[in-house]
Amino acid sequence: MTSASDIAARQAARVFYTWTAQANAVPLEIVGGEGPRFVTADGGKWWDLGSMTWNAGLGHGHPRMQKALGEAATRGLLVTPTAVFAAKARAGELLAEVTPPGLEKTFFCLSGTEANENAIKIARLFTGRQKVVARTRSYHGASLAMLSLSGDPRRLPFEPGLPGVVRMGDPYCFRCPFGKEPTSCAHECAADLETALLREGPETVAAVILEGIVGANGVFVPPPGYWKKIRAICDRHGVLLIADEVLSGFGRTGRWFAVDHDGVTPDLLTMAKGLTGGYVPGGAVIVTDRIARHFDDQVLVCGLTSYAHPLVCEAVVATIETIRDEGLVERAAALGTFLGVRLEDFARERPYIGEVRGLGLLWAFELCVPGPASQRTREPMPAVTMAKLAAILRRARLHLHKRDNLLYLAPPLVIAEAELEAALGDLGRALDEAFR
Ligand SMILES: Cc1ncc(COP(=O)(O)O)c(C=O)c1O
Repeated sequence: MTSASDIAARQAARVFYTWTAQANAVPLEIVGGEGPRFVTADGGKWWDLGSMTWNAGLGHGHPRMQKALGEAATRGLLVTPTAVFAAKARAGELLAEVTPPGLEKTFFCLSGTEANENAIKIARLFTGRQKVVARTRSYHGASLAMLSLSGDPRRLPFEPGLPGVVRMGDPYCFRCPFGKEPTSCAHECAADLETALLREGPETVAAVILEGIVGANGVFVPPPGYWKKIRAICDRHGVLLIADEVLSGFGRTGRWFAVDHDGVTPDLLTMAKGLTGGYVPGGAVIVTDRIARHFDDQVLVCGLTSYAHPLVCEAVVATIETIRDEGLVERAAALGTFLGVRLEDFARERPYIGEVRGLGLLWAFELCVPGPASQRTREPMPAVTMAKLAAILRRARLHLHKRDNLLYLAPPLVIAEAELEAALGDLGRALDEAFR
């Protein structure tokens, strides 16, 4: 419990927690924060090593965001989806500038789930086809359709879900689904898309949707060249490529978008989380000119009441300008290089880290039971030990995402190297207490 007031009890009586049995929820009463740290009502000062819900790329209490949103709220503009105003035009222009070349026109919404829903709808409207290929391990959102599209066990209570979902294999090199080792890898995971398309009949498939880097399901960094192969397969079969950059976008991996590492332009790219730095709920889909032109004379059967809301548009503009002015993409790349070296040492000293992998400021530790003589294994750390770790991390005031035997490191992009080093010291001590 990290609440010093009665708010947690009042709230628990009236408001649900997400993704948990309510009795197991862990309240976190955040009262403020600055940069990569936040403060709870009981006086605790935490390291935010998970960027809240992977969305707080600009860190806590960013003055520029507070000013931009304060001013927008004071104007109190009410709008309809057809409204014309400067921040909406500017948000569209800036998104066309920072996304890969060839992506031109944006559809706005309020979350990553909605961004993906609308991307799938646009792909179906554009192609007249229904099926969608998705990875075996992936997350695309919590609505009925997007959860069933996700390769995530959380979809199971809702099956049967969206019809026409086709699965392909993951770039999960630590447990390669094709039984390969890095030395024998020939990008079978990318080629599996072609196998899936040929099996289904490509003329029935509207799109393939892939996270830029699989996030919550394990941080799978695809091998260099992966996206180019995927792009070529899509082009060969006339299937649209949707990059879900909800988690991996806006500098998280050391480039504006994860697909930039391979220099690939998808047909549609979805965004949320870092799009607004978490300061307001926002999502978006950006599409190529070819897709945009299709809707010049065809009805875009997509919409929502709060389409391109002024608070969202102001937040998008302020976020992009802040990322640019503060050089946060370059900063994430530099910190990623630092972490690449630092985390290798960190893992070498700890035989229970089966693997540490990542890019930029998006990393995962795969925690495994060490074998005899402390050799590294791939046997997942059991749930009971992971629960012990979770309690220790809370006590140490470390906010990190956890799932199964995975522990994720994804601090705000504004974190300084010295702060990251200090946080890693705390993290190392917490891990050693749990596993040694
Ligand atoms: C890759 C990815 N896509 C989509 C979503 C859904 O976004 P939201 O929770 O904003 O609906 C998430 C959320 O974690 C995500 O990580």
